[in-house]
Amino acid sequence: MNKYSIPLALIILTLLFSCSSNTGETGSSADQNTEVRINKLIAQMTLQEKLGQMSQFDPMQFGSDENAKQAIKEGKVGSMLNIIGAKRVNELQKTAIDESRLGIPIIIGRDVIHGYRTITPIPLGMAASWNPALSSKAMAMAAEEAASEGIHWTFAPMIDVSRDPRWGRIAESCGEDTHLASAMAKAMVLGFQGEDLSDPKTIAACAKHYVGYGAAEGGRDYNTTYIPENLLRNDYLPPFKAAVDAGVATFMSGFNDLNGVPASGNEFTLKTVLREEWGFDGMVVSDWASIAEMIAHGYAADSKEAGFKALRAGVDMEMVSDCYVANVQILLDEGKIDMSIIDKYVANILRVKFRLGLFDHPYTDETLAEKTILSEEHKQIAKEAASESFVLLQNKNNVLPLSKEINSVAVIGPLADAPHDQMGTWVFDGKKENTVTPLTALTNMLGAKKINFAKGLETSRTKTSEGFADAIKAAKKSDAVLLFFGEESILSGEAHSLADLNLRGAQTQLLEAVAKTGKPIVLVIMAGRQLTIEKELDKVDAVLYAWAPGTMGGPALAEMIFGETVPSGKLPVTFPKTVGQVPLYYAHKNTGRPADYNSWTSIDDIPVEAGQTSLGNTSHYLDAGFEPLFPFGFGLSYTTFEYSDLELSSNTMGTDGSIDVSVNLKNAGDRAGIEVVQLYIRDRVGSLTRPVKQLKGFKKVSLTPGETRKISITLNAKDLEFYNGKDYIIEAGDFDIWVGGSSAKGLHDEFSVN
Ligand code: BGC
Repeated sequence: MNKYSIPLALIILTLLFSCSSNTGETGSSADQNTEVRINKLIAQMTLQEKLGQMSQFDPMQFGSDENAKQAIKEGKVGSMLNIIGAKRVNELQKTAIDESRLGIPIIIGRDVIHGYRTITPIPLGMAASWNPALSSKAMAMAAEEAASEGIHWTFAPMIDVSRDPRWGRIAESCGEDTHLASAMAKAMVLGFQGEDLSDPKTIAACAKHYVGYGAAEGGRDYNTTYIPENLLRNDYLPPFKAAVDAGVATFMSGFNDLNGVPASGNEFTLKTVLREEWGFDGMVVSDWASIAEMIAHGYAADSKEAGFKALRAGVDMEMVSDCYVANVQILLDEGKIDMSIIDKYVANILRVKFRLGLFDHPYTDETLAEKTILSEEHKQIAKEAASESFVLLQNKNNVLPLSKEINSVAVIGPLADAPHDQMGTWVFDGKKENTVTPLTALTNMLGAKKINFAKGLETSRTKTSEGFADAIKAAKKSDAVLLFFGEESILSGEAHSLADLNLRGAQTQLLEAVAKTGKPIVLVIMAGRQLTIEKELDKVDAVLYAWAPGTMGGPALAEMIFGETVPSGKLPVTFPKTVGQVPLYYAHKNTGRPADYNSWTSIDDIPVEAGQTSLGNTSHYLDAGFEPLFPFGFGLSYTTFEYSDLELSSNTMGTDGSIDVSVNLKNAGDRAGIEVVQLYIRDRVGSLTRPVKQLKGFKKVSLTPGETRKISITLNAKDLEFYNGKDYIIEAGDFDIWVGGSSAKGLHDEFSVN
C-alpha cells in the first residue's frame, strides 16, 4: 500500500472525524482540503507517530545523523532544530518522506533572529529605526538565506515588551513600547512569511516568548514575572495579537512563571486568550525544555504532571524534553486526557507543515544558498538597516559629520575592529570573516594613511591601562578621535543579564585620558542594551548609539560619521542615568504626587539634621531625580526640525470615529534630514488609571533642506481602547495629544471622545 492509498472504511471514519474534531474547516476550499488531508493522516497514525509529530529534537540528542534517521524512520521525529545545510536537511527529509510509514515531512527550526548569514542589527537596533517596512525587508532577506539552507521555521520575532536593560534579552526585543513593538511584530512576521508560506523563499515565523518573559524580576533571566491581567492585556499581549493578525504560523510558550503559573502550562494565556479569543489555529511550541522545567518551578511534581499541564494548557510541540513521549500513554490509560486532544495538537502541527508546502515540496534546492547568501543586494539591505538603527544622542557644535578633508583621524577602542562582536547576540550562522568593521570601512574610505588606530583596551572588560599610551599618541597626532566603546555581544542575550550598566573595564578612564588631548571626540557605542553613560557625555562631543549593527555595521558607521548618510534612529527604550532608576519607561502611570522640579531637592542640598517631612515631596529619587538621561523616542539629526500648526480634523470623536492629526514639519537646517514624527496621547481620566503618555502613531519622513511638509496621522477611536479589568472599552472623556520628535517634547492639543 502506498502511503496515500487508504482503505474505504478509514476514509469514512476520517470524514466523520473531520466534521467533529479540528478547527479550520470554515476557511477556503484549499483550507478545507488541507483539513481533510490532515484528518486522513491522523486517522492512520499510531500513538507513537502522533507523539513523534509533537516532539522536536536537537541533533545532540541523537549523537549522529544516522541515529536521527533511524528515529525519523520509526516516526518518532516531527521536527528538529539546529540542523543546517540543504544537503543535510534533504537527507533527513528523504528518510522522513521515503522511509517513515506515513511519509510525513519533518520541519526544521532555527533561531534566525536578525539575519542568517548576512546579519542585520539586533532587534532592539532594528526597532530604533522606527521603520517597519525596512524591518520586513531585513527579515525577508533572512528568510531567503535561511530557507536556502534547509530551514523552514525561525524562532522569531521575539516581541516581549522589555523595560529593563539589566535583562540581557532586551537586545532581542523591540524595546519598551507596546505600539512600536506591535508595529514591528507585524512587519517581522510579514517579512519572514511573505505572502505565501509555501514560497521556497519564505519561512514560518514564531511569536515568542508567550508571554511576559520580558518582565523578569530584577532583569534576571528566566525569573518570575508578575503581571496583573489589565497590564498584561494592555501592555504585553498586543504585540502577540498583532503577530496573530499578521498570520504568524507559530507561537512559543516562554520559560517564565507568570502570576504563579509557568507560561508553558498557562491555560489562561494559551487556551483562553490565544485559541479562544484570538482564534489562533497554528502551532505552539514550548521553549527549550520549558515543559520539563515546570518541575523546577514547583508547578509539577514530575515529568508526567508537567506533560499533563502543558497538554492541558495547549502546547502542541515539546522542544527537546520528553514529557509528552514518556507520559502520554499513561495519561491516556489513566483517563486524564483524551485522544482527541492529541489529535487536535497533531493537526495544529500538520497544518503548519501543509501551509509551508512541505508535503508537496519537501526538499530544498541545493543550489540556492550560493546565489542568495551574502549577495550584494543583501549586504546593501544590511547596511541600510544598520544605518537607520543608529541614534545620534549628542552632537555638540555639530562636530558630526566630519569632513573627508580631515588630515587624520584616531580610531580607538575595543569595538573598532571586533568583527564577531558587532554582529550582536543570538547569531548562530553569521561569520566574523564576512563582517566589515568600522576600522576596515574607515580605512577603505579615507585610506590607511589617514587612520591612526590604537585599540587602547583589549576588550570592553579590560581593566589595565597598558594600551592607553598608544591611544593617547594616536589621538594627539589626529584631528579628531573616534572611540568605539560598549560591550561585546556575549554581554547581552539569553542568560546574560547585568547588574551594572556603566561602561565596563577601563573604558571611562581611557575616554578621560583621551579627552585630555583636547581633540574633538565622537563616542560610538555598540551594545545590546541602553548603557548608563551620563558621566561620559560632557567629556565627548558627539555620541552615536550603534547597538550591535551586524555585518555591514562598519561601512554604515563610516558613511554616517563622514556625512554620506544622516542619522534617523530614535530610541526604542528610555535611557536611565543610573541603573537604580530601572525600570524606567515613558508610559508609566502617574502618582498622586507627580514629580516636578519644584518638589525635588538634590541630595546634596538637603540641610544637616533636616526635619523629617513628606509634605511637598513627590515620586523621585533624591540622588537621581525623576528624569531619564534620554527619553524614549529621542534622537538627533544633522539638521534641525521645527514642528508647527498642529491641527486636528475635529476636537471630538465618537467611540467608532477617527481624527486626522496633522502638523507642519520643517527641515530648518541646510542638510537633508529624516525625522520620525511621533503621536502620543493621554487619556486623562479612566475607569482604571491610564499612563501619562502613550505612543499611538508615527511616521518616518525625509525632508530636503528648508522643506516644509504637512504630515498627517490618523488616530482611530480603536487606538484608545484599553482593558479595564472586565472589558476592552473606549471610554468617553478628555484626552491630551502631542505630536513631536520624542516622547518628551511635542506640540499639544486636546480632544474628547463622546
Ligand atoms: C530560547 C529561545 C530559543 C530556543 C531555541 C531557548 O533557550 O529561550 O528563544 O528559540 O532556545 O534555540
